[in-house]
Amino acid sequence: MSGVGGGATQSPPLLELRDVGKDYGSVIALDGISTTVRAGEVTCVLGDNGAGKSTLIKILSGVHRPDRGELLLDGRPVAFGAPRDALDAGIATVYQDLAMIPLMAIWRNFFLGAEPTRGWGPFRRFDAATARETTRRALAEMGIDLRDPDQPVGTLSGGERQSVAIARAVHFGARVLILDEPTSALGVKQAGVVLRYVAQARDRGVGVVLITHNPHHAYPVGDRFLLLNRGRSLGSFAKGEVDRDELTRLMAGGAELDQLTHELERPPS
Ligand SMILES: Nc1ncnc2c1ncn2[C@@H]1O[C@H](COP(=O)(O)OP(=O)(O)OP(=O)(O)O)[C@@H](O)[C@H]1O
Ligand SMILES: [Mg+2]
Repeated sequence: MSGVGGGATQSPPLLELRDVGKDYGSVIALDGISTTVRAGEVTCVLGDNGAGKSTLIKILSGVHRPDRGELLLDGRPVAFGAPRDALDAGIATVYQDLAMIPLMAIWRNFFLGAEPTRGWGPFRRFDAATARETTRRALAEMGIDLRDPDQPVGTLSGGERQSVAIARAVHFGARVLILDEPTSALGVKQAGVVLRYVAQARDRGVGVVLITHNPHHAYPVGDRFLLLNRGRSLGSFAKGEVDRDELTRLMAGGAELDQLTHELERPPS
């Protein structure tokens, strides 16, 4: 074990799933899934298409309630009735489409949907100059150097947009940050940039849930790994319990991939 787990004095995880299941009609989307999300750690959820990754996110973020098992918040069972409940508990979710408005300036998007009653009195009267400056500062704190907060979000690259969304969640005090495939549409370099911000959020004590297909993205930044296959767990590992090759092999379905490689090879001529 790499320093995670153990220790009687350890505080309960921010979020925990115990033996959770969820069905859509006769489709068993998740079954018997357990994992934890701890402050200052990255929990990676890996799995192929249809594995149940988005369903798992929807349970953590209050969109769906589990049909079986338990969701615990700070060690206590919780039932989110709506996404708002999860948000109020400090669980922020960044979806792939990001819910940003492309033609609006970065700073306007940064404050989009944030409500003046949630601990930021000065913005009751929406003050553009302050909002602009706050955005610039919050991004700079995460090491994001934007030339111009007035730039429309639509002109940012995919990686920059993900980075702004991460900085925004951290700035507004997210305790848990859920990222649904933040690197899947990105090139190697931009994926690296986004993973660096994931690490920054982690270093600030946020519990991050990183959903990805890609073990090469998950391994360097992850503290624990949950592998899903058709709604079931293929394994749940702390970093010290699995290496990257093993993770890749499990993801690829091991023997299945060997078989495919064999099939695709040209017959010797
Ligand atoms: N609203 C729904 N109604 C019926 N079936 C659903 C619904 N949402 C998901 N499913 C099914 O549940 C299973 C898990 O889907 P889910 O979207 O969680 O997978 P995923 O791992 O996110 O896949 P992807 O990588 O393609 O996004 C799939 O078989 C899917 O068809
Ligand atoms: Mg999905």
